[in-house]
Amino acid sequence: MWNQNSVSKILGTHYPIIQAGMAGGVTTANLVSEVSNSGGLGTLGAGYMSVDNMKLAIKEIKNQTNQPFGVNLFIPETPIVNEEQITNAKRLLEPFKKELNLTDNSSFSELQTEFEKQVEVIFNEKVPVCSFTFGAPSKELVKELKKEGTIVIGTATTVEEAVINEENGVDIVVAQGSEAGGHRGTFLDSFQHSMIGTFALVPQVVDAVSIPVIAAGGIMDGRGVSAALALGAKGAQMGTAFLTCIESGAGASHKRAVLESSEIHTVITAAFSGKPARGIVNRFTREMQEFESQLPPYPIQHALTKRLRKEAGKQGIPEFMSLWSGQSPRLSRNISTKDLLISIVSEVEETIGRLNE
Ligand SMILES: Cc1cc2nc3c(=O)[nH]c(=O)nc-3n(C[C@H](O)[C@H](O)[C@H](O)COP(=O)(O)O)c2cc1C
Repeated sequence: MWNQNSVSKILGTHYPIIQAGMAGGVTTANLVSEVSNSGGLGTLGAGYMSVDNMKLAIKEIKNQTNQPFGVNLFIPETPIVNEEQITNAKRLLEPFKKELNLTDNSSFSELQTEFEKQVEVIFNEKVPVCSFTFGAPSKELVKELKKEGTIVIGTATTVEEAVINEENGVDIVVAQGSEAGGHRGTFLDSFQHSMIGTFALVPQVVDAVSIPVIAAGGIMDGRGVSAALALGAKGAQMGTAFLTCIESGAGASHKRAVLESSEIHTVITAAFSGKPARGIVNRFTREMQEFESQLPPYPIQHALTKRLRKEAGKQGIPEFMSLWSGQSPRLSRNISTKDLLISIVSEVEETIGRLNE
């Protein structure tokens, strides 16, 4: 059977289908547990979470499922702080803030996540699977996690990044193609050189590493999952497809924007966070585009736009929100998580049947 392979065996799931950890409130305990209860791997996007909120969310997930689940973390970066750049970025944000009647001056210290403490939570809570992006977890960290029985997943946007993840000992690597919604996981080369489409990236990564590969980027249904398997991946990770599910915590205007968009509506922008990410084009991405090279790096710019994004969300103004989406929004569905999993599985079987005709 297609579904019982190295990835589903390592993860202990019925299907090699992974709901991407999506930081920023999308991955409610309901969404994560519904994915896991339906045979996939639900993942809590904990990148921006405080340890207290992480503990709370993990507790809720454990209350709602006895199946394996994952937690996704960001490998921390130490940006070079340039005061002039920050002042300039604040000035560029002023007109947008004014429109929302915001007078606040965000400080980037708001966003220093406590990576070590987040990792402690993973240990203490005996989280079954931990995935990382924005860098490869160190050999020591991987070793410690594995010693505690946690399965470790890395993220790569190039072959070289996948090889480093393998060398550091991860169990599985996600190959994130350029179609993917949200932030690029790139950590080695420039982001421009690392924009490799899923179809090109997956087989090249599969050939270069001996650990199982999970494909990500633009996969929304059983056709995409089958294609990923045909390319040699042993699983598929999906973000956008789960974002529009009933149980997802994405705001109503974000869900609507994805459900109503088409393939020509997404852009790569660094305007919200200082790190390139794919989302639906809006006034903010358009008007900030020419200034992107002047903006401070992640996570400084992310902290500077925090209040703006939050207030835009509260006021329901999508033009100033980060509307992360992959390149296949036409394939998005506003259905329950369970129904999405059931549909994807039957579509995979239909696709495989069609190939055998
Ligand atoms: C709203 C959103 C938030 C995301 N946040 C994260 C994250 O916190 N950590 C991570 O590893 N990947 C994150 N991603 C990227 C996914 O892991 C995955 O690469 C991507 O969703 C695949 O492309 P797709 O959206 O077309 O399915 C995010 C994606 C989206 C759409």
